[in-house]
Amino acid sequence: MELIDGNKIAAEIKTEIAEEVKTIIANGGKQPHLAAILVGHDGGSETYVAYKIKDCEAVGFKSTLIRYEDDVTEEELLAKVDELNRDEDLDGFIVQLPLPKHISEQKIIEAIDPKKDVDGFHPINVGRMVIGLPSFVSATPYGIVELLKRYKIETNGKNCVVLGRSNIVGRPMSVLMSQKAMNATVTVAHSRTENLKEVCKSADILIVAMGVPEFVKGDMVKEGAVVIDVGTTRVKSDQTQSGWKLKGDVLFEEVAPKCSYITPVPGGVGPMTRTSLLLNTLLSAKKEIYK
Ligand code: GUN
Repeated sequence: MELIDGNKIAAEIKTEIAEEVKTIIANGGKQPHLAAILVGHDGGSETYVAYKIKDCEAVGFKSTLIRYEDDVTEEELLAKVDELNRDEDLDGFIVQLPLPKHISEQKIIEAIDPKKDVDGFHPINVGRMVIGLPSFVSATPYGIVELLKRYKIETNGKNCVVLGRSNIVGRPMSVLMSQKAMNATVTVAHSRTENLKEVCKSADILIVAMGVPEFVKGDMVKEGAVVIDVGTTRVKSDQTQSGWKLKGDVLFEEVAPKCSYITPVPGGVGPMTRTSLLLNTLLSAKKEIYK
């Protein structure tokens, strides 16, 4: 069993991005610029956005954080999105989700100019991705594809089971795995799937994005399978200083011994998700997706 080291690959990618930024600037180009809108004070969102800003600094991007309180109106937020769409210095921006209940997330996502939608959430980017056109791909699936490629894991002709069908992970993941670059035979399984254990056992590559801690047990995994664990549920713990720890969707102790490769939680998919946003911002700065 080999552990897939997301921290190591993420560090390699960040070094590559930082080198490219230096070259761009040395050649008289503009410093890539990412902005993030954060509404309210949700603990998870605060942490994620702080990491995104820190990552920008680490690779030499300019970053801008725009904060609103929970009572911001949808109109105010839409006006800011419109302003950022027209800001010529900005290569991309994200609106951190979730948003307060009185704001329609879909309306906000659809207001973002697809050319600046480095989260890859806009239906134009999702649609372009599905039909194989250049697009911003959402961060987690993009990061997983990078991990599989950099570990030279064979995907051609393999049975890939994706557990979960969310718009930002399971669904795009299933599409990417079925495309010609990956050539896997894909099954999307979810809460209504019958014979889930057998379906999971048929997987050469099992990608788990359910959000249910330790859902996948040892008897659900084929000997020699590649297991990618997207789960990151915070659970209470008296063993850590913070009082909580991250749990994946896979019962690691049971599953890992059966695998050829497995991602740990933390340190697997998570760090790659963060670098994907940087890669998308760089692609935008270089005008590689939309000419
Ligand atoms: N909330 C959780 N993950 C994400 C993400 O990738 N992008 C945004 N904008 N919000 C999130």
